[in-house]
This record gives sequence, C-alpha cells and structure tokens, in this order.
Amino acid sequence: MAAGEPPNDRPATLRSRRKASEKCINTFCIYLFAIAAVACIAALILGLVVVRVKTPTVKLTSVTVKNLHYGFSPTPFMDATLIAEITMENPNFGEFKYEEVTNTTLIYYGVAVGIGEVKTVSVNAKSNKNANFTVKVKPNSSFVDVDYFSHDLAMLKTMNMSCIAEFKGRVRLLKLFKEKKVSMLKCTMSLNLSSHGVQNLACQ
Ligand SMILES: *[C@@H]1O[C@H](CO)[C@@H](O)[C@H](O)[C@H]1NC(C)=O
Ligand SMILES: *[C@@H]1O[C@H](CO)[C@@H](O)[C@H](O)[C@H]1NC(C)=O
Ligand SMILES: *[C@@H]1O[C@H](CO)[C@@H](O)[C@H](O)[C@H]1NC(C)=O
Ligand SMILES: *[C@@H]1O[C@H](CO)[C@@H](O)[C@H](O)[C@H]1NC(C)=O
Ligand SMILES: *[C@@H]1O[C@H](CO)[C@@H](O)[C@H](O)[C@H]1NC(C)=O
Repeated sequence: MAAGEPPNDRPATLRSRRKASEKCINTFCIYLFAIAAVACIAALILGLVVVRVKTPTVKLTSVTVKNLHYGFSPTPFMDATLIAEITMENPNFGEFKYEEVTNTTLIYYGVAVGIGEVKTVSVNAKSNKNANFTVKVKPNSSFVDVDYFSHDLAMLKTMNMSCIAEFKGRVRLLKLFKEKKVSMLKCTMSLNLSSHGVQNLACQ
C-alpha cells in the first residue's frame, strides 16, 4: 500500500515533532518559572533591606573653648573659638556618605553667632565615626539683644547656645542602591565664661 504509507508517516513525524516541541516548552517553562522565582526572592530581599534604611544619628559629644575674651566697653562684646567633636552613628548595612560640606550654625537668643564647616565624612556600615569642626563665635550688640547679652555676661557669666545642622547624605546598599537621608543635629549647651568650658551639653 504505497498510497497508505505517506498518510501514516506524516502524523508520526508530526507527533514526534510535537512531542519534541512540548518537551522544549516544558523545559523552557521550568526555566522561566525558576528565573521568575529567583527574581521575586531577590526583589523581596532588596525590598526589605531598602525599606529598613534608617537615618544615621549625629550628636555633639564634646566642645573645647579657646581664646575666650569678653567685656563691656564700649558695648558688650565676646569672642571665642569653639572646637566641637561630633559622633555619627550609622545603623545600616551599607556605608553612609555625607555631602561635601555641612554648615553647623551656632544660635544665641535666636540669632546666628557663628558657622562651622564639617567636611565630607563617610561612616562605614554599622559603625560610628567622629569628626571635628571649628566655630568662631563673635556676638556683638549690633545684632544680639543687648539686655540679654549684658545680663548673661555680667550676672550669669554663662551663655546658652544651640547648635543646629542638617547632614544630608546617602546610604549605599549592596553596591546597587543609594538612599538619601538627612541627619539632624540639634544640641544645646551653656558656655561658662568663668571656667572657659561648656556645660549641660544635650542633644535631641
Ligand atoms: C556655609 O556657610 C558659608 C558662609 O559661612 C556659605 O558661604 C556657604 O554657602 C554655606 N554652605 C552651605 C552648604 O550652606
Ligand atoms: C577632635 O579634637 C579632639 C580634641 O582636640 C581630639 O582629641 C580628637 O582626636 C579629634 N577628633 C578627630 C576625629 O579629629
Ligand atoms: C558687630 O558684628 C557685625 C556683623 O558681624 C559687624 O559688622 C560689626 O562691625 C560688629 N560691631 C562691633 C562693634 O564689633
Ligand atoms: C541655660 O541653660 C541651663 C541648662 O539647660 C538652664 O538651667 C538655665 O536656666 C539657662 N539659662 C538661661 C538664661 O536661659
Ligand atoms: C562655671 O564654672 C565655675 C568654675 O568652674 C563654677 O563655679 C560655676 O558654678 C559655673 N557656672 C555655672 C552656671 O554652672
């Protein structure tokens, strides 16, 4: 039966071809599924890590007073150089790097009396780092309330000041992600004019 053979033959080759392609589709599907599963798990892990990024903290840990002078003539005046040490704590699993320069401002009765610059600092994952900055303080009666200033200089012999700064930077995660964070520095202190020291240093 020469006429019967080809019709028998065609479905057989078709069937084996179909089987082969089904096999192909099945293995392809398995690979695709595996890739999708791995991608999902990776996204979940990354999501958890990124969501958990915490803001590093910055605190003033010590202040040294140098070249302190004050007096009342012709008007109340005071000048000093403060060397402040800050401690930055990075609780994240990635390095935190602050922007090039951060200005810290010293405030006395609501008026800025000095600015100090903190240079770029990077804090390793899960660690602390200290940095110093210098502020020249020079309030005078032309921009500070004379009554309060005179009272502080003459009677209390202390000057309460606050130090504020916004440290902007980025946490690097798994060398892939960068997340921006802003660490706020907000501390108060009393400059003792008799002892040339800083007391009651407290940070929020
Ligand atoms: C920091 O303060 C100085 C003035 O002392 C100013 O020129 C500079 O622009 C400030 N920098 C930033 C980043 O605010
Ligand atoms: C900051 O200054 C203090 C006192 O001058 C010094 O002991 C300390 O090592 C300095 N810290 C840094 C990080 O330079
Ligand atoms: C007071 O400070 C201002 C601003 O820094 C300055 O222009 C002025 O000369 C100072 N006055 C005195 C008496 O030092
Ligand atoms: C200065 O600060 C100290 C401690 O925080 C506080 O006891 C004192 O009353 C303050 N003095 C003034 C004049 O605000
Ligand atoms: C400032 O320091 C002197 C000398 O150490 C001390 O006797 C005085 O009580 C201090 N002033 C304040 C307001 O704590």
